[in-house]
Amino acid sequence: MTKTWSPSAPQGVHATWSIDDAVEQYRIDRWSNGYFSVNERGCVVAGPGAEEGRGVDLHEIVQGLNARGIQAPVLLRFADILDDRLRVLHEAFAGAIQENDYKGGYQSVYPVKVNQQHEVIAEIIEFGKRFGSGLEVGSKPELLAVLALTIGEPDQLIICNGFKDRQYLETVVLASKLGRRIIPVIENLSELDLLLDLAEQHDASVSIGVRVKLASSGSGRWGASAGDSSKFGLATDELLRMLTTLRDRGALDQLKLLHCHAGSQMQDVRSLKQIIAEISHVYVEISRHGATLDYLDVGGGLGVDYTGARAVSDSSMNYSLEEFASHVIYRVGAVCDAEGIDHPVIVTECGRAMTAYSSVLIFNVLGTNGPGAIAARANPESVRAYVESSGEPAPQPMVDLLAAFESAVDGNLVECYHDAQEAREVSLHLYSLGYLRLEARAICDQLYWATCMILEERRQSLGDDAPEALADLPDLLRDTYFCNLSIFQSLPDCWAVDQLFPVMPIHRLDEAPTVRAALADVTCDSDGKLDRFIGDLAVERSLPLHQLREGETYYIGVFLVGAYQETLGDLHNLFGDAHAAHIRIRGGRWYIEDLVEGDTISEVLTYTQHDPAVFARSMKKDCERAVQDERLTVQEARNLYRFYDEGLRGYTYLDAGDAP
Ligand SMILES: Cc1ncc(COP(=O)(O)O)c(C=O)c1O
Repeated sequence: MTKTWSPSAPQGVHATWSIDDAVEQYRIDRWSNGYFSVNERGCVVAGPGAEEGRGVDLHEIVQGLNARGIQAPVLLRFADILDDRLRVLHEAFAGAIQENDYKGGYQSVYPVKVNQQHEVIAEIIEFGKRFGSGLEVGSKPELLAVLALTIGEPDQLIICNGFKDRQYLETVVLASKLGRRIIPVIENLSELDLLLDLAEQHDASVSIGVRVKLASSGSGRWGASAGDSSKFGLATDELLRMLTTLRDRGALDQLKLLHCHAGSQMQDVRSLKQIIAEISHVYVEISRHGATLDYLDVGGGLGVDYTGARAVSDSSMNYSLEEFASHVIYRVGAVCDAEGIDHPVIVTECGRAMTAYSSVLIFNVLGTNGPGAIAARANPESVRAYVESSGEPAPQPMVDLLAAFESAVDGNLVECYHDAQEAREVSLHLYSLGYLRLEARAICDQLYWATCMILEERRQSLGDDAPEALADLPDLLRDTYFCNLSIFQSLPDCWAVDQLFPVMPIHRLDEAPTVRAALADVTCDSDGKLDRFIGDLAVERSLPLHQLREGETYYIGVFLVGAYQETLGDLHNLFGDAHAAHIRIRGGRWYIEDLVEGDTISEVLTYTQHDPAVFARSMKKDCERAVQDERLTVQEARNLYRFYDEGLRGYTYLDAGDAP
């Protein structure tokens, strides 16, 4: 009797699936920091207190946006999470200050490079008022934006890092005359004389900062931002020359801030400890040289535990925010006490840890392909049909694959898997030598994938007792889900630096995911894929997902994307910015505070120096010529031109409607 196979309905381990299993499966409680959870309807909820049931439903928000004509991909920005991040940062430092009887105070500064979007900076300025937070800029465009955004807030501290030309420095000098609390940080000595000359020229007294090159380097991918060979800061002999110049020019009392930066996403608390110890001693030495500094700026670098592993790895870290604050405050206080020097105000420029949690990218799945679909077409009858139609006996690998398929349900697991693998290899070999016809190869492929699918179901049901020899099956069987997003535009760090972000469906979490898949984006680039996901011990090459359902859009979210992704993104294939919705939460309900529509096709064409208006006119003329030559009817020409014109005003992503 022949056996047939079809994709299984949830059974075995799947029948007992619960929301808790979903939380465990996607490790939400490990990476969410309390801002994300799953509700009883099986949807992801977001917001401060989400873990205690105070979050809002992401699927409901996406549907609400659809109803307003805003389709995925869409970036949801949660201002309340941003607000909460500022609060926890300040509370951590306030706690450390109290615990260590620190006298100097704390000042947070937001480095705008981390996310320069207008709404994000405006929200940080607004939320930061209650803590007296400041802003850090690293370029002229950032400086000009921040100067305008802080009009009416002259006491807001502005720290100016980065390479500076005359115009940059002159703007700073005049801004300080305007009454702004602004500190240019000298990153290389050539900036110092120019700054002092400009201050003299404008008769302005400017506060000055200095960034030093530390011998201690940071840890992780951006660890080289500190250390002897770092790109930034003054070496010790240059620092001495700077002090001499300041003294000679009667400006030593203008030196107010000492700065260092360990590099973003510091993984290891040990490098933090070394850096803070070293910079504290530099602070003391500068004070000994007669400068009365007010601020010690320890830069950014506070990590985000994207994987939730709490380990020293690129997307994780082995310390908490509280440990970070406590160590900085304790060490600076202790070093200053030992030398009898007043405690400085500690400044941090934490960007990633402030913004990462506040944004979620959501996109829809457009379709799928992979072994699952091929396996579903497997039918042992096709072997007989092949023999009849070809008039030849079944090729040996086909016979062997049929045998493997028929023993997959109750035969020896490992033996069956090895038999199937060997037969498949032979089939591929024969095919590449021209000894196997296309029809035969197709049947072999179907039988092979169906066999693997059955074996995988059996492997899963064995749990921890599953044989090791089958451990590669989940990755082998992964499907590809085609997703309406551009990795290059919305998740550039996945492509550029192998950053891991938490990725998971935002709904159907009350159902067991029965498919494993990698995600492919809509760019025509083989790098446009997500195939590295957070695993328990190692990176996993596929993600558990649900089978797509006819007539229902399946949505996936990428979490913790609020830092660096938006402006680093590029226009590959001319996919532009995604829509961004600013969501606020009040009384357990959400509302849209602001909606920033993504780029239109016309806009991305303009970015690349095309003129959409000229394009539209040329197309119209071409359509008219086609009517004259009777290649198009008037109606066809009109339709083509209308599609073109509407297309120019439309979204750059696929218009998938509300169904796949
Ligand atoms: C000088 C400076 N400050 C602050 C930051 C922000 O770092 P993070 O986002 O890791 O906190 C950076 C970024 O690397 C930086 O270069």
